Amino acid sequence: MAYDFPSLSDVFSFFEQALFIPKPTWSIEKMPDMTGKVVIVTGGSAGIGKVTVKALLEKNATVYLAARNEKKSLDLPGKGVFISLDLADLYSVKAAAQEFLRKETRLHILINNGGIMMTPKDQFSPQGYDLQFATNVLGGPLSFICYIKF
Ligand SMILES: NC(=O)c1ccc[n+]([C@@H]2O[C@H](COP(=O)([O-])OP(=O)(O)OC[C@H]3O[C@@H](n4cnc5c(N)ncnc54)[C@H](OP(=O)(O)O)[C@@H]3O)[C@@H](O)[C@H]2O)c1
Repeated sequence: MAYDFPSLSDVFSFFEQALFIPKPTWSIEKMPDMTGKVVIVTGGSAGIGKVTVKALLEKNATVYLAARNEKKSLDLPGKGVFISLDLADLYSVKAAAQEFLRKETRLHILINNGGIMMTPKDQFSPQGYDLQFATNVLGGPLSFICYIKF
């Protein structure tokens, strides 16, 4: 199979994008008031998800933090609600979606943030799928969205 080596300009472009990241043009302060908006953040217990939950709460959104570990999650102030969700387990995904539907009649924003990377090949989900595929693809973007229908 023929392999096209990257050109010098491709290599330059890669390093330019990786090393010389421009200053962001948007910041949390620019987020409008989110009063009345209902948001779900999956994996809101750590990292980017945790920062996202905090920012949305500060802007008065109703935020559902869907994650595995309630203790590890933020001590949610204001309109924050914890929902137990294990994205790797399709039964947990369905239960979490059903819990949300019992509490809300609308969802304005779903932030599919929860996920994992580079798991060992021999780790599988409760239903027997590759753990990373089950968590990042089957659990969140596919199943969770499908269950949340009003
Ligand atoms: N940071 C990067 O450089 C980078 C690069 C590419 C992609 N990403 C992706 O971007 C997202 C956020 O990154 P991050 O750096 O903030 O990641 P992080 O600090 O590792 O946080 C990931 C979040 O996802 C949750 N999570 C993992 N498996 C879960 C499951 N089965 N069910 C429910 N929640 C689960 C974790 O909850 P627990 O506390 O329960 O583990 C945690 O809250 C992740 O999906 C990550 O894979 C990140």
